[in-house]
Amino acid sequence: MGSSERTVFENPVVEWIDSRLPVFTMMQKEYGVFPTPKNFNYLWNFGAIAMFMLVTMIVTGIVLAMHYTADVTQSFDAVERIMRDVNGGWLLRYMHSNGGSFFFIAVYIHIFRGMYYGSYKQPRELLWILGVVIFILMMATAFIGYVLPWGQMSLWGATVITNLFSAIPLVGDSIVTLLWGGFSVDNPTLTRFFALHYLLPFVIFAVVFLHIWALHVTGSNNPLGLEPKTEKDTLPFHPYYTMKDSFGVVVFLLLYAYVVFFAPNMLGHPDNYIPANSLVTPAHIVPEWYFLPFYAMLRAITFDIGIPFTDIVIISAKLGGVITMFGSLLLWLVLPWLDTHPLRSARFRPLYKKLLILLVLDFIFLGYVGSQAADATLLGIPLSVFGLIATGLYFAYFIVILPWLSKNEKGRELPASIHEAVLAKNKK
Ligand code: HEM
Repeated sequence: MGSSERTVFENPVVEWIDSRLPVFTMMQKEYGVFPTPKNFNYLWNFGAIAMFMLVTMIVTGIVLAMHYTADVTQSFDAVERIMRDVNGGWLLRYMHSNGGSFFFIAVYIHIFRGMYYGSYKQPRELLWILGVVIFILMMATAFIGYVLPWGQMSLWGATVITNLFSAIPLVGDSIVTLLWGGFSVDNPTLTRFFALHYLLPFVIFAVVFLHIWALHVTGSNNPLGLEPKTEKDTLPFHPYYTMKDSFGVVVFLLLYAYVVFFAPNMLGHPDNYIPANSLVTPAHIVPEWYFLPFYAMLRAITFDIGIPFTDIVIISAKLGGVITMFGSLLLWLVLPWLDTHPLRSARFRPLYKKLLILLVLDFIFLGYVGSQAADATLLGIPLSVFGLIATGLYFAYFIVILPWLSKNEKGRELPASIHEAVLAKNKK
């Protein structure tokens, strides 16, 4: 950045620093005067809320790590000691374990907001892709973190999920051995998971930095999906959105605090208060709620795919499940090229809006399927049948419906500008 672009600050200390390293100029440009569409609704708070949760997770996690020991003979007790003997340890732990859930709540809302308003469309494709990378990293971090207390669900969840990699042809078994650091989930697994659980949040932080950088290159989308044209369409980020984001964070914090203080085990599984025991498999292994829709897709494929009338299996049920689960996320990566409709916001695409709501309901239903035992039934029919149908609908939405809508949906007429739409709304 050339010195000519620098802001001159009155405070001599700030000015001294800024003339040598223009961080204040950068903040002023990106968070002070940054032109931001003036019509944001509260759904635009969730990026800031996610950021707040990421920082909360890192801070509470680092202090927890000061009291934790990664060793299969000690981890369970170390966590109990944090809960009972470390000053404020119970609060740290409940903030961290429930913080994971609230981080996912914020990010799920953030993602579906992006889908509803078409925020992934040109020119924000890379911003979106970086978001999906963050989401995948978050899932990896949360999964690994859940293993650390070394309870029954830690051990068995880790066993089920790491075993999936063995379905990959040729290299699968080697990958599993590498993940485990041996031939079963044991001490080397726990130690490497702890190392990675400490590392990954910082990787996420770095990708979030790129995510926000990309956002500040294109500027934000908004509920109308129109690009701002004149100064009348925007407001400076500060004080308008610093205030609105702070308000959103505080409201979210109230809900988070309610769960931390009054229902801290509501979202957890009681089996994880039983020390890990490799000789006793829990009757029903379930992941944390935020994985459930993907877990349902993993379990949806219960049959081998092969050449008919022969015994030749090309894709085993296990591999099919793995491909389906990872495929469901890969679809998000290519979403900007599946939905190429020229209009962004669902407000002007009535059919898209209905079908997206259907997708969200389908996703929630998949979550329900994932939460139930593999042999559960619904209305006398095996739940796995519903799981397969819901998975089919999920894929059809992305692969068939979105491209079809892109070509055939006639949208509503757009307002002339953000400014005019806001004025018209205020008049009403
Ligand atoms: C640690 C997780 C994340 C953080 C801290 C984060 C942060 C942010 C922030 C601060 C914004 C600007 C404010 C806003 O629009 O809400 C933003 C925008 C955006 N994020 Fe994220 N994000 C995260 C995860 C994700 C994920 C997982 C996705 C998608 C899969 C995503 C997609 C987007 C998109 C498309 C925008 C632009 C929205 C618009 O302008 O309408 N983000 N993000």
